[in-house]
Amino acid sequence: MELLDGKAVSKQLRNELAEEVKIMVAAGRRPPHLAVILVGKNAASETYVNAKVKACKEAGYESSLLHFPPEISQEMLLHGIDELNENEDLDGFIVQLPLPSHIDDKTVIERILPAKDVDGFHPINVGKMALGLDAFISATPGGIVELLKRYKIETEGKHCVVLGRSNIVGGPMSILMRRNTYPGNCTVTIAHSRTKNIKEVCKTADILIAAIGKPDYVTADMVKEGAVVIDVGINRVDDDTRERGYRLTGDVKFDEVSKKSSFITPVPGGVGPMTIAYLLNNAMIAARKRD
Ligand code: GUN
Repeated sequence: MELLDGKAVSKQLRNELAEEVKIMVAAGRRPPHLAVILVGKNAASETYVNAKVKACKEAGYESSLLHFPPEISQEMLLHGIDELNENEDLDGFIVQLPLPSHIDDKTVIERILPAKDVDGFHPINVGKMALGLDAFISATPGGIVELLKRYKIETEGKHCVVLGRSNIVGGPMSILMRRNTYPGNCTVTIAHSRTKNIKEVCKTADILIAAIGKPDYVTADMVKEGAVVIDVGINRVDDDTRERGYRLTGDVKFDEVSKKSSFITPVPGGVGPMTIAYLLNNAMIAARKRD
């Protein structure tokens, strides 16, 4: 078993981007500028957003964090998005999800200018991505593809099972893995909560991508010997032995599954850091398009 070290690859990618920032700045251009909108109080979201802002700083990007109160109206939030759309000092921005229940996330996402939608959530970007056209690819699936590429994982003709069908991960991931390119050219199955014989389906996977949001869901009996296992889960599980009162667990029971897999991502230190690096990559793509 070999670890797919997302932490190391993320660092490598962020170092490459930092070098490009230096070249941009030396040429008299401003560095990429990414803004993050956070609404309300959600401990996990705050952690992710802080990590994104920190990664921007380390790579020499400008970053702005707009923290709105939980009771902000949808109208006010949309107004805030309009201002970011029009702000020429900004290359891209994201609205951290989930949003409070009184706000419709689809309406919010559709308000973001596709050219600034570095999360790749806007229907225009999702549609273009599905057609293989130039588009922002959302950060988690994009980061996973980058990880597979840098470890030269063979994908052509393989059976890839994507566990989960969310708009953020499972959906776009399945599209990317069936693209006629590398990484891609897989035969893809999407499995989800209504899939019959889900264990048997998973067991046929050469590449298993678990994005179901259930701690330790994938057990050794669901995994083929030699499979490549990508664990997207970041689940908080109560743990009194930890000072913070919880530990992070993936969707995969790492201890037993790692004994059967050829490659596997750890949690933490796998997909999470790749998501952040890929967001910075998207912000750089946006910045390169500016004159
Ligand atoms: N919530 C969980 N993952 C993400 C992400 O990649 N982007 C945003 N905006 N919200 C998220």
